[in-house]
Amino acid sequence: MTTNTLRLRVARITREAEGIQSYELVSQDGGALPEFEAGAHLDVQVPGLNGMRQYSLCNDPGETHRYIIAVQRDANGRGGSRAMHENVHEGDVLTVSEPVNDFPLLYGRSYVLIAGGIGITPLLAMARVLERTGAEWVLHYCARDADRTAFRELLATPSFAGRVHIHHDGGDPTKGLDVRALLATRGPGTRLYCCGPAGLMKAVREAATLHKWPWEKVHFEAFTAEGTSATHATAEVDFEVALKSTGQVLRVPAGKTVLNVLRTHGVKVESDCEAGSCGTCVTRVCEGTPDHRDTFFQQESAGDARMLVCVSRARSKRLVLDL
Ligand code: FES
Repeated sequence: MTTNTLRLRVARITREAEGIQSYELVSQDGGALPEFEAGAHLDVQVPGLNGMRQYSLCNDPGETHRYIIAVQRDANGRGGSRAMHENVHEGDVLTVSEPVNDFPLLYGRSYVLIAGGIGITPLLAMARVLERTGAEWVLHYCARDADRTAFRELLATPSFAGRVHIHHDGGDPTKGLDVRALLATRGPGTRLYCCGPAGLMKAVREAATLHKWPWEKVHFEAFTAEGTSATHATAEVDFEVALKSTGQVLRVPAGKTVLNVLRTHGVKVESDCEAGSCGTCVTRVCEGTPDHRDTFFQQESAGDARMLVCVSRARSKRLVLDL
């Protein structure tokens, strides 16, 4: 998905909360950077490590003179966040991708944003956009305590007043945000965006299911302190999909998605993000076992009757889809 890489100078490092630093990245010649949208991230080559780490952009997408990412140090992680905190200094030059957006802010009449920990970053960019456009929105931000609440001063400014609700649970999730109560009501056309640790996402997913939120209006992005979106370690193998309406059988090879194959054969399925986060391509599964590789059904034990065909694959040799 990533195309060009950029070499950007670290103009400023700011302590945003205990264990959380933000990094302001600018072009080396002072020129404008490629534009980005709320929800986008950068793939960052962290000095001293192999591979890239993904960090969401949290500044205003209207800015073209800088990118800001934030990184939470995780002593038990794979080393990316520690290396960012220890090895990156102001004035250093980092190799990063152009912005990539797997978590786009789609049109809605109103928005509920729920962030946990460092998951605040993409939602902060969304809040900035929503505020500017005059949309109806509310942000619930869950953190352990005030010291671990990033961007606290910014979120207390008048432009966010009345919209931002910060919840401190002291490390006990039962004392934090009551997502069931929060999601019990919703206005028509309301979209829900959630980014945070697995426990929060699971609670939000269960509450959204309980209160019958439409799947296509609920969007998740998994972020660990390592800054890595939900990834899927399972190797890709070929499998078959059969179309219930015609009996046609199509082979899905490794490296191709079900959505790709359906399109190639003229089968229309609506899609949007094509990254497993918006729910638009949800398709009923009549037979077989899907391998959920999205951020939506991934942790659902009872989620086998539907799948997101833009990213998910099969655990069985064949799936029969209700198409
Ligand atoms: S198109 Fe968004 S989840 Fe498949």
